[in-house]
Amino acid sequence: MKRAIVFGATGGIGSEICNELAEAGWSVYVHYRHQDKLAQAICSELMDKYPMQDFIPIKLDFDIDDSELEKFVANLLPVNAVIFSQGITKYGFLGEQKLDDISNILNINLTVPIKLTKIFEKKLITQEFSRIIYLGSVYGEQGSPLEAVYSATKAGLSRFCQAYAREVASTNLTVNVIAPGAVDTKMNAIFSAETLQDLKSEIPTGRLATGKDIAFWVKNILQPESRYFTGQTIYVDGGWLI
Ligand SMILES: NC(=O)c1ccc[n+]([C@@H]2O[C@H](COP(=O)([O-])OP(=O)(O)OC[C@H]3O[C@@H](n4cnc5c(N)ncnc54)[C@H](OP(=O)(O)O)[C@@H]3O)[C@@H](O)[C@H]2O)c1
Repeated sequence: MKRAIVFGATGGIGSEICNELAEAGWSVYVHYRHQDKLAQAICSELMDKYPMQDFIPIKLDFDIDDSELEKFVANLLPVNAVIFSQGITKYGFLGEQKLDDISNILNINLTVPIKLTKIFEKKLITQEFSRIIYLGSVYGEQGSPLEAVYSATKAGLSRFCQAYAREVASTNLTVNVIAPGAVDTKMNAIFSAETLQDLKSEIPTGRLATGKDIAFWVKNILQPESRYFTGQTIYVDGGWLI
């Protein structure tokens, strides 16, 4: 049975990734930080639709000790795909950010994904088929003012992915980044209707992406035929910035 773990599965993009993977025959660990009811509801709905597959809610706050990360991975059933769709941002000038907020963004978006990659590696490189995908951002290519730390984490993911993919390229593990433009999820809920309208008018396709627009690419990288595709960042931005 092919099984994936989707970190940030309670997010607007992560939940669509779960739907797409379930439809494609995957069993899924549905990761969450605090939205336990939503994770349970996603699993129940998918179990009703695809009763021959497993859907397991699993909690992990990325703000924990390294030893807990190791225990977390050791307790999982084997997985063929690890998808990092968790993430946070904080808008504002760098000079006005709290140092704790800077640490949090770096930790949740970049440091813990790298540590988890290291911990998962031993199992992933011995399998006949393994995939890692990180959710990056167009801001990893075009730094965004008021999101300087977030931009740095997304650029960091793309370069980490490029280097690490080469380290493991002789195994059956591929490593890639899907980098969205603006997606209609709660991450953008802080913006007023007027700001969102202005944003839409800047995007050549005239709208924000849906979670499904992004999940489509994740699903395709998880196909066995994508085995020669590694170390890449795919920008999915409706022609907006890249
Ligand atoms: N939305 C966009 O416009 C956009 C654009 C480009 C890139 N992206 C990237 O795409 C990914 C998904 O974004 P999204 O829009 O789906 O975000 P979202 O709807 O805000 O969801 C964020 C997810 O991250 C999890 N999370 C937050 N803090 C965490 C922590 N401390 N430990 C572990 N998990 C934590 C949340 O879990 P709980 O809900 O359970 O707390 C949730 O599942 C992110 O990496 C984001 O940077 C998004």
